[in-house]
Amino acid sequence: MVEGKRPDPGRAASRTAAISVEPVRLDRLAAESAPRISTGNAEFDRVLGGGVVPGSLVLLGGEPGIGKSTILLQVARQLQTRGRRVLYVSGEESAGQIKMRAERLDPGGDDMRVLAESNLEAILAAVESARPTDLVIDSVQTTFSDALDSAPGSVSQVRHVAHCLLTLAKSSGTPVFLVGHVTKDGSLAGPKVLEHIVDTVLYFEGERHHNHRIVRAVKNRFGAANELGIFEMTSRGLVAVRNPSNLFLRERGAAPPGSAVVCTLEGTRPMLVEVQALVVATQYGTGRRMSTGFDDSRLSLLAAMMEKNMSVPLGACDIYVNVAGGLRIDDPASDLAVFTAVWSSYCNRAPAPGTVLLGELGLSGEVRPVSQAHVRVREAVAMGFGRCVLPAGNLPLLETISGAELVPIRAVAELPDSAL
Ligand code: TYD
Ligand code: MG
Repeated sequence: MVEGKRPDPGRAASRTAAISVEPVRLDRLAAESAPRISTGNAEFDRVLGGGVVPGSLVLLGGEPGIGKSTILLQVARQLQTRGRRVLYVSGEESAGQIKMRAERLDPGGDDMRVLAESNLEAILAAVESARPTDLVIDSVQTTFSDALDSAPGSVSQVRHVAHCLLTLAKSSGTPVFLVGHVTKDGSLAGPKVLEHIVDTVLYFEGERHHNHRIVRAVKNRFGAANELGIFEMTSRGLVAVRNPSNLFLRERGAAPPGSAVVCTLEGTRPMLVEVQALVVATQYGTGRRMSTGFDDSRLSLLAAMMEKNMSVPLGACDIYVNVAGGLRIDDPASDLAVFTAVWSSYCNRAPAPGTVLLGELGLSGEVRPVSQAHVRVREAVAMGFGRCVLPAGNLPLLETISGAELVPIRAVAELPDSAL
């Protein structure tokens, strides 16, 4: 046994004595119900689950250049405008650069405190003296502690920094927003190693090449995971998109073959999204299945089901699927739309105009009910879609909805009659 690791019976006994081990009855516990703080940015509040929770540690991850600093600077200033005292710390930009960025955005929060610093001990000292009500740290990878020898951005530094900030948040009740870069090649210790430490993990998803930005809560101890915030990058920073269905269907003209529309539910928000598919004879021995915004293995599965249930030789076809607008959908209710898009491209026949498809598919080709069907159908109606192909199992609860023809479907074999 290593010297110094040997258990010291005396110490263990005194520790036991010092710790209160009295469990408390559930009904005697006081709930932590500190009111949430609104950031003044409705989209950002939504992803957080309805505003900032005091004492929470929120990680905001995303690729470089996607808008992490921009949105946090906006939110920080809005909080300041609402009477909070925000400390915005950046280890990435000089105070001058922050000022320059701030000038491009909407005015407000001019008395917010800014600190260009990457040394953790210096930051904690600044927090001690400035006593902010909210803290932003941009980024976890540039912040380093003197307590460790390893380089900034290494796994141990990133973890240590996050732990210290967690302690700060919990002990003082100060919400802390932490930026974390995600790099494709993994050259930096990414937010992944922090996901279990922090309370809330928000990721920017999609590509920088689109004008809009999607922020998704992938973990939230204080709200629904998968909640989405949708923004547009403008010359004045990130602006909330009020009607995401409009955005995702914007470039859609007359529905061509290979296109199907689904109403997904990401978090609590229904959104109409177009799924596009392209099916072509393969140039290789076996057909490839590739998708953007949809799970590849799920696509392979749907293709296999189509071969079996519709007797089509897809083995000799390449199948490409794309979710328009850079959104990633993992809602099971989108199975039927993906299936239909592929089928429609294969047959070169477009689905009937104005059709929305809902349904999760089982392995034998049965169409299973989806959650919150009424919310989805209402969104479809609101967006002017007059026809909704949906699982027969959902129909009984939808009788009160008017404005759309509801077409029940039990199995994918009925698809040519229902959707086309
Ligand atoms: P940024 O917030 O710096 O990204 P991150 O912190 O995630 O690395 O976003 C930078 C991009 O946003 C940059 O390409 C310029 C663009 N941008 C605008 O288009 N409008 C604006 O008002 C601002 C501030 C930035
Ligand atoms: Mg940045």
